[in-house]
Amino acid sequence: MEHIPTILFLLSTLLFAISVEAPPSPLFPDEALPTKSGYLPVKPAPGSSMFYTFYEAQKPTFPLSDTPLLVWLQGGPGCSSMIGNFYELGPWRVVSHATELERNPGAWNRLFGLIFLDNPIGVGFSIAASKEDIPINQRQVAEHLYAALVVFLEQNSGFEHRPVYFTGESYAGKYVPAIGYYILKEKPNGKVNLKGLAIGNGLTDPVTQVQTHAVNVYYSGLVNAKQRVELEKAQEIALALVKSQKWREAGDARNELLTLLSNMTGLATLYNTARSIPYRSDLVVDLLNQREARRVLGVSETMSFDECTDEVEDALHEDVMKSVKFMVDYAVERTKVLLYQGMLDLRDGVVSTEEWMKTMNWSGLGMFLTAERRVWMDGDGVIAGYVQRWGNLCHVAVSGAGHFVPTDQAVNSRDMIEGWVLGKGLFGVDDVKQPISSKLYHSI
Ligand SMILES: *[C@@H]1O[C@H](CO)[C@@H](O)[C@H](O)[C@H]1NC(C)=O
Ligand SMILES: *[C@@H]1O[C@H](CO)[C@@H](O)[C@H](O)[C@H]1NC(C)=O
Repeated sequence: MEHIPTILFLLSTLLFAISVEAPPSPLFPDEALPTKSGYLPVKPAPGSSMFYTFYEAQKPTFPLSDTPLLVWLQGGPGCSSMIGNFYELGPWRVVSHATELERNPGAWNRLFGLIFLDNPIGVGFSIAASKEDIPINQRQVAEHLYAALVVFLEQNSGFEHRPVYFTGESYAGKYVPAIGYYILKEKPNGKVNLKGLAIGNGLTDPVTQVQTHAVNVYYSGLVNAKQRVELEKAQEIALALVKSQKWREAGDARNELLTLLSNMTGLATLYNTARSIPYRSDLVVDLLNQREARRVLGVSETMSFDECTDEVEDALHEDVMKSVKFMVDYAVERTKVLLYQGMLDLRDGVVSTEEWMKTMNWSGLGMFLTAERRVWMDGDGVIAGYVQRWGNLCHVAVSGAGHFVPTDQAVNSRDMIEGWVLGKGLFGVDDVKQPISSKLYHSI
């Protein structure tokens, strides 16, 4: 009789082992599921809709009805915000394997709600009813974004007064000012409680930015004097085409310049001089082309996912070299603006941004330019970057990061966005040495 408990023990161990191993761990653990995801119709494009994923704040410090909402927009033009979601700043990311989501220690939805929009229509899982509905300029982009966001706010009770911050990267350096300008100018009493605009490594004023490549890489030691001249020639070609308003050719000329730069430097990617391989956004493509991913996100199983969509890129190609700096000028007089760049980016980096910031038409510019640039230390006493702020404008150079700042510096990027939204720490300090000349000027 004594062997019976032993058999039972063995049996139960066996069953336990089976029950642990049998169901393979799902691709999306429950915690990794968005709070909501689906489609938001856009106007005026019947039948078209924007795909979104929304993650509510994990540890909100305000009642939800007052908790800020961050809207994230990817660049391209034509790339999906699911790259931002699953490779950069979302709560769960694919870091090394397409089949394994890992918790992001620097998720941007710790204190704030976070919504990723596949913008413009036709991108990622978004749907464009026809090719003609895909935006060809920033005005159309803004109209669609506004329509989609209003539906989202209306669908969720208690959301109507939540403070909204538009954020984004790269070509979203166009979209973020465009939606900000549209709301501030045309819908100031509308349904979006706009509180700020944030752009990471943005393309905003291409004419100024395209002229900074040669000097930037020359003084970084990446090219020699002869190559610098060659790059300058390529820049001038792009510039001349802009002046004669040959927008498509000007966009091509910029691509040519970047290819030349890539050839000369031999870098794995212009997005980050320190990387030995390109960023692994391809992992997101593998993740989202798995049937289970589409099922849990509420996407038709017949849809395939592309990181960037050629049709949308092509529709906006003539827009690439057009500046939206005047929209930032307009916005910064009325709401707060954050411009941050990873310092290792050779496409849309710090120099490229500072160059156009200096030319802003903004009443606070003089004060901003004389404001102290402060050293930003992380929690371990390591340099996280440099912060300069005056009035509504905040500029951050992020150390140890390239084009995809949240991928490279997850926790620091979250500290930055939280500090900026809440107006805390270095990101909330107005620190400026009163210029002596301006004091004299006022006393005369
Ligand atoms: C860059 O290198 C590739 C491969 O060698 C070459 O085909 C291409 O013409 C080069 N482009 C430029 C702009 O230098
Ligand atoms: C600067 O902005 C003001 C006010 O918006 C405008 O009247 C003026 O024309 C602008 N100046 C330039 C050089 O763009």
